[in-house]
Amino acid sequence: MTLKPQEKESIEHEIILKTSADTEKFGIQLGSMALPGDVICLDGELGAGKTTLTQGIAKGLAVDPACYVTSPSFSILHEYPGRIPLYHMDFYRLNSSLEVEELGFEEYFYMSGLTVIEWSEKATEILPVDRLALHIRITADNVRLVCCTYVAEKWRNRLLNRENVQKNQKNK
Ligand SMILES: Nc1ncnc2c1ncn2[C@@H]1O[C@H](COP(=O)(O)OP(=O)(O)OP(=O)(O)O)[C@@H](O)[C@H]1O
Ligand SMILES: [Mg+2]
Repeated sequence: MTLKPQEKESIEHEIILKTSADTEKFGIQLGSMALPGDVICLDGELGAGKTTLTQGIAKGLAVDPACYVTSPSFSILHEYPGRIPLYHMDFYRLNSSLEVEELGFEEYFYMSGLTVIEWSEKATEILPVDRLALHIRITADNVRLVCCTYVAEKWRNRLLNRENVQKNQKNK
């Protein structure tokens, strides 16, 4: 029997980020490998490092360094031009998937850029199945433990090859 994507077992693996620089480096790797239509969801407590990771992603996408990437908590969505556009969303102040639908954000998931969503758990119903979900936990020794969950095979390969992806970008 062939399983529909949403029926597939999701796959998890864990990444340890010891410093902010590690978080940024992981973000750069994700940004370097991003393709149009990718969606990355970032969840975890206040101060977990979601925006730090997004700043790295912006670097990896070659967003102009003059564009300082901040949490779009009040405006909910910031768009930055890069190798492909970065749509940075923050659902912290939203209460339901319905609000996201009403704001018309869903259509960004299927556009030509990379969508990064902080606090995506506020609107899980409308998130695409093949997203990369990163849940960041702060451990007792202030290290970040990132649980990566995905159903799409593309993310497994990319996460395993991420060091190479970054090297290839540097060699261009
Ligand atoms: N791996 C890490 N180890 C230690 N500190 C880190 C790490 N990654 C990020 N930080 C630090 O955590 C702090 C909070 O980060 P950030 O603002 O990115 O969190 P956030 O998850 O976006 O928070 P919010 O939910 O309020 O938007 C920053 O000072 C950042 O330097
Ligand atoms: Mg933030």
